[in-house]
Formats: sequence, structure tokens, C-alpha cells
Amino acid sequence: MSARSTVLVTGASAGIGLATAVALARRGYSLRLVGRDPAKTEAALKAVRELDPSAVAFRADFSSLESVRGLAKELLARDEPLHVVIHNAGIWHHAHKRSKDGIEDTIAVNHLAPFLLTHLLLPRLRETEGDRRIVHVSSRLHAQAGETASASARMVHLANIAGLRVRSHGGRLDFDAFDDERSYRGIEAYARSKLAQIVFSCELARREQGITSNAVHPGSVATEVTRGNAVLARLNQLAAPFLKTPAEGAETSVYVATAPSLKGVTGRYFARSKEAPYASIADDRAVAERLWNWSAERVGL
Ligand SMILES: NC(=O)c1ccc[n+]([C@@H]2O[C@H](COP(=O)([O-])OP(=O)(O)OC[C@H]3O[C@@H](n4cnc5c(N)ncnc54)[C@H](OP(=O)(O)O)[C@@H]3O)[C@@H](O)[C@H]2O)c1
Repeated sequence: MSARSTVLVTGASAGIGLATAVALARRGYSLRLVGRDPAKTEAALKAVRELDPSAVAFRADFSSLESVRGLAKELLARDEPLHVVIHNAGIWHHAHKRSKDGIEDTIAVNHLAPFLLTHLLLPRLRETEGDRRIVHVSSRLHAQAGETASASARMVHLANIAGLRVRSHGGRLDFDAFDDERSYRGIEAYARSKLAQIVFSCELARREQGITSNAVHPGSVATEVTRGNAVLARLNQLAAPFLKTPAEGAETSVYVATAPSLKGVTGRYFARSKEAPYASIADDRAVAERLWNWSAERVGL
């Protein structure tokens, strides 16, 4: 990846996304930032422009498919190469919420928006020359999808927090739960969306030649991601001294987006800037195909 490559970072207005953009600007990459909140996005652009005067910011709300389409249109209108897309924007909702399109909002923002944006930007990535990469910022929690209350899934989770790199053979993509408001639990919806990102990343890697697709876990990072849950947000504040800083949380995304040693490496999952095992369900082609078709239908492709 050469330093003047163009890198798009979503969710760049705060937290890990902003830290990722700053780290890449410092290394000489040309940044395209995507944010939702106008004031936060403007402040992020100002910070990044001090390191990369060529940086440009765009606004989009990933709770709206129309907004995602508008973003892609603006990006494509720039008629410039696109080397890297880092799908970093993400949300965790304590209570059930619907997107502007009537879809459960966690899956809409965390999976369907990047799914649609990827498809709309693929023609530009395909015509760009050189090393091209897509990075999906997922979470270790993906391995608990469908079984966040299960003791064995929690054991695997704790083992991985301790750095043991245990592969989960659990994890379920419960398609009926996507639309079931009554059974909604924030942690489940979040874990499911993070698993969907990895299933999509792996399937994209199988389908696409010449553009790599990998997923990452940034670590446990002191950000505002849990702001939708007062208890979790408070716990996060209290735990902040023991959590990674956003700059530390950005390291794996930056590594996967730029490391020369990862040229051509695709369909993998990384944590702590090292390859790590993802839940084995992401290797199930039938699940991947079902998710692909479900997603394509939802986003109107
Ligand atoms: N923090 C952790 O410990 C942790 C662990 C594992 C994975 N992750 C993942 O890391 C990624 C970054 O999260 P973070 O921890 O840095 O959280 P954060 O500080 O809350 O940042 C999230 C970013 O996503 C944006 N975003 C949220 N909803 C959006 C929407 N509807 N449309 C467009 N943008 C939206 C936010 O924009 P606004 O500023 O406008 O809200 C913000 O820029 C997420 O995908 C998260 O799931 C985080």
C-alpha cells in the first residue's frame, strides 16, 4: 500500500474511526472521512487536515439507505481512485429501534449500510490500480451471536480476552430474530450484526478477485459505543483506565489496511494486529449465501 493511496474511513467523527484517520494521515495517506454529526465531522476534518491537507469529509446517516446511496454518489462523482475502505461506523442500541427504512437499526447501521456501500463502491475499487483492501471493523463478540447467555460461549469469549485465541464453533445467525422486536436484546443484536459483518467479509473475499476483504476486532476501547445503555456507558467510564485508548484501538485497522505483508491476504480476521480465529460459522457457504441474498433484498440491490 503506497502512502498516497486514498482511504475511506466511516464513523470517522469519533472514537476508533477518528483515531484510525489520524494515524493514516500521519503516515501520508489521503483521507476521505464519513461522519453523521455535522459539528463532530467538521472537527474531525480539521484535526485530520493538519496532517493531510487533501482530506475531505462527507456526511451520511447509515440508518438510511437513501443516505448511503447519496454518499456513494458523492464519492463516485469525485472521479478519483479508491484503494481502501474501512467500514468502522457502528452502534449498539439498548432498546429496539428501527432505521428510517423500518429495519432493526443495529443490523441496518452495522451490516446493511456497509453491505450497500461496498456494492456501490466496488466498480471504483475494481478500476483502481494496485493494492486494494476492504476492512470490516467487527468485534470479538461476534462469536457469541445467538448465544450471548450461554456459559460455554462466554468461556470462549473470556479465553480470547485472555489472549488464548480459541476458535468458537458456536455462534448463530438467527434470521428470524432480525425482525423480532419482542425478543430484542441489545447485546444479541450487536453480536449478530458483528457476526454478519464477518460472514459478509469472508464471502466477499471468496467472490472478489484483486480486492482483499478482512475483518478486525479493535480490542476493548474507551469510546462512546455503549452510549445507548446507561449502565454499560457508566461501566465503560469506570473501566476507562483499563481499556485501550482510541489510538490503540485503531492499530489493528491501520495494520490490516496498510501492512505490506498483508498484500493479497484475504478472508481473515485480526485482533491485536495478528491473525485470530473467527467463529467457524463464517465458513459456512450456505449461511453466507443466505445472508447475502437477505441483505441484497433489504437494501434493494
Ligand atoms: N469500543 C470498543 O470497545 C469496540 C469493541 C469492538 C468493536 N468496536 C467497533 O468499533 C467501531 C467504532 O466504534 P467506537 O468504539 O469508536 O464507537 P464510537 O466512539 O461511538 O464511534 C462510532 C462511530 O460510528 C458513527 N455512527 C454511529 N451511528 C451511525 C449512523 N447511524 N450513521 C453514520 N455513522 C454512525 C458515529 O457517529 P456519531 O459520532 O455521529 O455518533 C461514530 O463516528 C464500531 O463498529 C464498533 O462496533 C468497538
